Amino acid sequence: MIRYLKREKIFILNGKNVTYALSVNKAGFLQNVYFGKKTSKNKVTEIAVNADDKLPSAEDKNFDMEFDAMPSEYAFYGRGDYNEPTAVFERRDGCLFSRFRYKAHKLKKALPELGVMPCVRGDGETLTVTLKDDFSDMEINLNYSVFNDSDIIVRNAEIKNCGTGAVKLRKAFSFCLQMDSDEYELMRFYGRWAKERTPETTGIGHGITKIQSIRGTSSHQLNPFVILKQKRCNEQKGKCFGFQLVYSGSFSLCAELSGNDKLRVYGGVSDSFFSWNLNGGETFITPQVLIACSYRGLGALSSEYHDFLRNRIIDPAFVYKKRPIVLNNWEATYFDFDDKKICEIIDAAADLGVDTFVLDDGWFGNRNTDTAGLGDWYVNENKLNGGLDGVIERCKERGLSFGLWFEPEMVSEDSDFYRKHPDYIVGKNGIRPAMGRTQYVLDFTRKEVVDCIFQTISGILSRYEISYVKWDMNRSLSEYYSESLVPDRQGEFFHRYTLGVYDLAKRLTSRFKNVLFEGCASGGGRFDAGMLYYFPQIWTSDNTDAADRARIQYGTSFGYPISAMSCHVSVCPNHQTGRTTPFETRGNIASLGPTGYELDPTVLTEEEKSATKKQIMAYKSVSQLISEGDFYRICDPFRDKVFCVCAVSKDKTSCYIVYTSLTENGKERQIKIPYLKEDGRYIIRGTKLSFTGKELKRVGITVGNLKKYYSAAFVLTEL
Ligand code: GLA
Repeated sequence: MIRYLKREKIFILNGKNVTYALSVNKAGFLQNVYFGKKTSKNKVTEIAVNADDKLPSAEDKNFDMEFDAMPSEYAFYGRGDYNEPTAVFERRDGCLFSRFRYKAHKLKKALPELGVMPCVRGDGETLTVTLKDDFSDMEINLNYSVFNDSDIIVRNAEIKNCGTGAVKLRKAFSFCLQMDSDEYELMRFYGRWAKERTPETTGIGHGITKIQSIRGTSSHQLNPFVILKQKRCNEQKGKCFGFQLVYSGSFSLCAELSGNDKLRVYGGVSDSFFSWNLNGGETFITPQVLIACSYRGLGALSSEYHDFLRNRIIDPAFVYKKRPIVLNNWEATYFDFDDKKICEIIDAAADLGVDTFVLDDGWFGNRNTDTAGLGDWYVNENKLNGGLDGVIERCKERGLSFGLWFEPEMVSEDSDFYRKHPDYIVGKNGIRPAMGRTQYVLDFTRKEVVDCIFQTISGILSRYEISYVKWDMNRSLSEYYSESLVPDRQGEFFHRYTLGVYDLAKRLTSRFKNVLFEGCASGGGRFDAGMLYYFPQIWTSDNTDAADRARIQYGTSFGYPISAMSCHVSVCPNHQTGRTTPFETRGNIASLGPTGYELDPTVLTEEEKSATKKQIMAYKSVSQLISEGDFYRICDPFRDKVFCVCAVSKDKTSCYIVYTSLTENGKERQIKIPYLKEDGRYIIRGTKLSFTGKELKRVGITVGNLKKYYSAAFVLTEL
């Protein structure tokens, strides 16, 4: 609920358990008053009045220089605020300084719509505050949405040129928030290929800590999500805040601790090498940020994000729909297959109880290695005699659905597509473009390029019965230059590229509503809320080694629901790490998300086949918990050398626990589960052992000393 106290000029935004309050201070600037546990109107008013008392009076000759410590909701530049500005715009005369003052506001019982940019769905209330620059015709609309059933506040900014002359945006962040002075630690999620979203917690020093990607994707290296936590905050207790961008391209998220110990958080589209020409009357729309607050530790913060992404970002047509159990042929065959091999795989997969066969890379053009063929989206009939028709027919005969791999944003130099359209790639004429995985990036800033790919992929999706698409993206951008943009607009390149990706995703997903799209970028290189808006699930990592995957899925779970993390069982020794782990462990780790198999089912031993059938049956019995339940981290696999997590049904009548030892020097452990009904009695499925919720909370379940990489999974149900 949003209230406006007219006399005091205070806005009070109440979510489920939180209050976010802003005021127009006596100098006319919009400032933060409070963000935290739900509080009363009186408390908010008292804080606002105190803050106003500290402001200089407008008659003071030094008035203009006094805004450094003001908790600005959108920092200005060159007029007494020496923190990083939230937006900077250069006028014709080169003038850059600004100062934003409250002009008007509106309250709406609806959410903002952002064109092709992903944005929060459903119902909610929105406050839009319009700020006007004191020195130019620029205006900024700040949107704030709140929800009765969530502790997430959604913010973004719309920067509008209300004049007639063009203005160049040099920075256009989505938000700025100044926090109270408690000491916080910063959690970021870093990594690289096959090691995505590793949590790292550090203190915040004075100056600016910048988490960013300039790769054109949200990246393996740093996820567009950070948490600020009090030192004592753990999974179950303590105060923490989350900031998650709904954006998939180059981004910045910064924490700035100033000399007077004020902490500001801000970010949005990356400001490194960014610019955007805004003609008179035009508006630049920034991505949304999901800001969360928890007083019940990191577990509750994650749950807020999980519920929010499931209920308000991911496509409602898919989010709670049963996901297929997939057999993907990538690690089974790589590029080396023909129709006979594929049909054998389909037959074997059908015998195991798999739902969907996904034909990965290598089915098209002259694609027999990763050096050729990308862009030639027509079937390689030399490899697949009978074409896709034959493969799909076989799937249908065996009761399977069919899925197909694409890499829409890329092209190989050695391809018919590139020979026909050499000018369609990202780069600058006369300079050899950089290759990554022997491929070039298509210039998605250009509408004709996106149109062309849309036509091609639509053609295939219309012609064949395809129920699943894996949309891959296997290299970072480079050059950041488009021949189609005038010199003065090259700074727009990477945001325009991301808009091109969203445009294609929007057109394909809205035309092919029944197709489940899985996102992928060399594994989890573009795992973010922006992609989840279009793709209900994302291939979490190319690393399918159970021990590494446990850590990757653990890190990913801080910001994203497990129902969005695609996870497959693969063979051992593992292709990425060479490590051998028990089949059961691989199954247990892969059961924590939409699941499948990334192996050749025709070469499984009889024992492995029967284990697979059992795994699939067991998965089906917990799949609803995976997609709908509350997920909790019980042990930290980095610190404790044990991975233990659970998924609890919303009504707390059942709970699925996965435990895996990651050390030789294990010991017997008590696994405490404080998330069930204290007075309920729960039985471990398949045994006669039962416990009360209180016992599970206080004493826990004893798990014996498991050997390294051994694992246990069990289901508790209320009697
Ligand atoms: C990427 C993906 C893999 C696979 C290959 C195919 O690496 O992450 O799952 O699809 O591309 O080339």
